Amino acid sequence: MPQTLPNYPLTRLNTFGLQSAAEQFIAIDDVATLQSCIADPALRSLPWHILGGGSNLVLPELVHGLVLKMDLLGKYLQAEDDDAWYIAAAAGENWHQFVQWTLAQGWGGLENLSLIPGTVGASPVQNIGAYGVEIKDYFHQLSAIHLHTGEIRTFGLSDCQFAYRDSIFKHSAGLDWCILEVVFRLPKNHQVKTSYGDIEKALAELGLSATAHHIAQAVIHVRQRKLPDPAQIGNAGSYFKNPIIPAEQATALQAQHPALVMYPLDAQHTKLAAGWLIEQAGWKGRQLGSVGMFAKQALVMVNHGGAGQRDVKTLEAAVQRDVLNQFGVMIESEPICWQ
Ligand code: EPU
Repeated sequence: MPQTLPNYPLTRLNTFGLQSAAEQFIAIDDVATLQSCIADPALRSLPWHILGGGSNLVLPELVHGLVLKMDLLGKYLQAEDDDAWYIAAAAGENWHQFVQWTLAQGWGGLENLSLIPGTVGASPVQNIGAYGVEIKDYFHQLSAIHLHTGEIRTFGLSDCQFAYRDSIFKHSAGLDWCILEVVFRLPKNHQVKTSYGDIEKALAELGLSATAHHIAQAVIHVRQRKLPDPAQIGNAGSYFKNPIIPAEQATALQAQHPALVMYPLDAQHTKLAAGWLIEQAGWKGRQLGSVGMFAKQALVMVNHGGAGQRDVKTLEAAVQRDVLNQFGVMIESEPICWQ
């Protein structure tokens, strides 16, 4: 029978640094351990929570039930054809280290996603994205195990229902699947993407050319300048999603606020920069209790020390209210909030 650890501290296992503990905890470093948990009726009677790098979570003081920390490791070239390399990585691999390893092998594609905290297994859940690239652009397939039946199945690109910061794994049809391994398709004729302004500027500043390696360096440079390092100050990356609103509403808002930062998506939809809205609403660098919106990037909530879930939700509501009052736009939180 798998051995779980009671009352296990999670404060250091979430990048936000929120005070939290798990009622029961187990580290999963091989699939057989997970399978024996699934087969154990006493464990199965508890609520289950899968923990990766803990970089996109808002944890409560006490997580009821069992927390399973995904520590599965391994990465390898699974296959190769004339057009692409197929690279597999186990769910517990650190995302940034995995990306740097692919680049060191000469396989470009994931460079714009350098320095994103978290694990490979968590990357499809919110379809991580940065600087004009999302993992769906290089995703091939993944394998996942059903937490009730133990069935192992493969999810292809369309099965994952990827969208902006979203996938099936955030919705009821996907919640009972635990990702074991992800396979990426990295094309041999990879075309780098430098269209995101910050990257072009950073390449020029650093005197670098637009190779996959150099883009990784530029991305690391930009992220280190703008985003707080969770090792120094607790955070979960962007706290809010950039809202997608009807194009007509965006045009009307722009007439009122000519400096509005917006990205037309198609004829009907426009994405707004939530960081701009939050800054205009006066929250950039402002604190409420033990949490605040980061001074260099208003989209990121930071823990100034000792914060818990309630502090986070109180600031979330205050920022949402002020942005809604000023712009008539509701911004939604991005990290997953465990109850
Ligand atoms: N802006 C402001 N004030 C701010 C922040 C942003 O006015 O305090 C405006 C600026 O005009 C800026 C624009 O918003 O040019 C966009 O800002 P930025 O390039 O920093 O990107 P973002 O839209 O704020 C998104 C992602 C980030 C990702 C960057 C780069 C979301 C929720 N966030 O942020 O992802 O790194 O683009 O691609 O889509 C994350 O998800 O945790 C994350 C960090």
